[in-house]
Amino acid sequence: MWDLDLAERGAERIAWAEKLMPVCRSVGAVFKRDRPLEGLRIGCCLHVTKETAVLVKVLSEGGASVALCPSNPLSTQDDVAAALSELGIQVYAYRGMPPREYYEAIGKVLSHRPHITVDDGADLTSTVHKIMHGVRDEGVAWASSVLSDPRGSCSEVFGGTEETTTGVVRLRSLETQGLLLYPVIAVNDSPTKRLFDNPIGTGQSVLDGIMRATGVLLAGKRLVVAGYGQVGSGIAMRARGLGCEVIVVEPSPVRALMAAMNGFRVTDMNEAAEVGDIFVTATGNINVIRREHFLRMRSGAILANAGHYDVEISKNDLSSISERVEKVSELVTKYVLHDGRELYLLAEGRLVNLVAAEGHPPEVMDLSFSLQALAVKYLAENRERLGRRVYVLPEEIDDAVARGKLESMGVKLESLTEEQKRYLREWRLGTS
Ligand code: ADE
Repeated sequence: MWDLDLAERGAERIAWAEKLMPVCRSVGAVFKRDRPLEGLRIGCCLHVTKETAVLVKVLSEGGASVALCPSNPLSTQDDVAAALSELGIQVYAYRGMPPREYYEAIGKVLSHRPHITVDDGADLTSTVHKIMHGVRDEGVAWASSVLSDPRGSCSEVFGGTEETTTGVVRLRSLETQGLLLYPVIAVNDSPTKRLFDNPIGTGQSVLDGIMRATGVLLAGKRLVVAGYGQVGSGIAMRARGLGCEVIVVEPSPVRALMAAMNGFRVTDMNEAAEVGDIFVTATGNINVIRREHFLRMRSGAILANAGHYDVEISKNDLSSISERVEKVSELVTKYVLHDGRELYLLAEGRLVNLVAAEGHPPEVMDLSFSLQALAVKYLAENRERLGRRVYVLPEEIDDAVARGKLESMGVKLESLTEEQKRYLREWRLGTS
């Protein structure tokens, strides 16, 4: 557990992030004036970072009372947790929580009987749904163990938001099966989130994590990216910028074609395994790098994951083919295979950008978390008319956030003339 002595440093880091998050600041100023969240209890399950602290402050300025647990056991910045606690936020997080405590923290957030859940990866939302639908598993048992009335604790939730692709996949599965219990806003799917946070935020922060963990030179390395979605394509782009030879592994024909036409070498994991120096997974799927791939790798290969869960690089397979496992540093684990080759796993296979670095930079989280704050307000204002569905925020909200960011950057927007607006509405005009 962290020490309250860390709070001062945490407060300084939060202030630094706040300076770089002007759109969140202006949403906070409006919230402070209008108090759109007065009386609401909000349960957040987010990476406990300096940027999340800025969001929590904005929600509090809107009048909400906020309880926070982490969305990954290893991503918590302890100084930030301490600073939030000093500010009176109920925060149940410390770096390195074991799985049982991680789910107990989710239970503790539920003990505040939230009206709205703000989630990153859907662990909080799925715990609420499991409790309400009577699904028992270890996580639910641990979360429920801190609750005198688990169902009662979940019964006042009337809406939720979700930050990431992995979480949205789970929500859509609940929706398709008719099991979703309240409206959830897929903040991830707003263009102002997915076009910036996913490729640009992850592109920078994943490479930052690899560099902080290992200190290796990236120029001249062969870096294999598994998955060429929004996140993987961002990692590939930035790795190329740093001088890596990037190899993409991708099962979707359209995405693979896109990678090939963007000039990347595209192949399957069997072939990539033989040549890669650094491997990064960004697929949202399980066992993407597994036994048969480890057995082909060169000694010294570095393995990192950028997907939400630590399932993309099979740690079970790695252990089963290893003679010895040694911790080289807090962030690097060495697996010595039976034939003497060494493979290096970063951040225990968890999100390398949040465990080995500080997550996405504040300038990018400014967009994502302004949308989160506005999504919470949208839920509060529209609770009567929204159904049990997954929603995307209206375009006007997206545009307002993008506009605010452009203003803060001093970037001028072009304006359409009245003639141009009419032209775009006209269907009769064609070849002249
Ligand atoms: N997800 C990715 N980067 C993040 C950050 N800096 N804070 C919170 N969540 C994040």
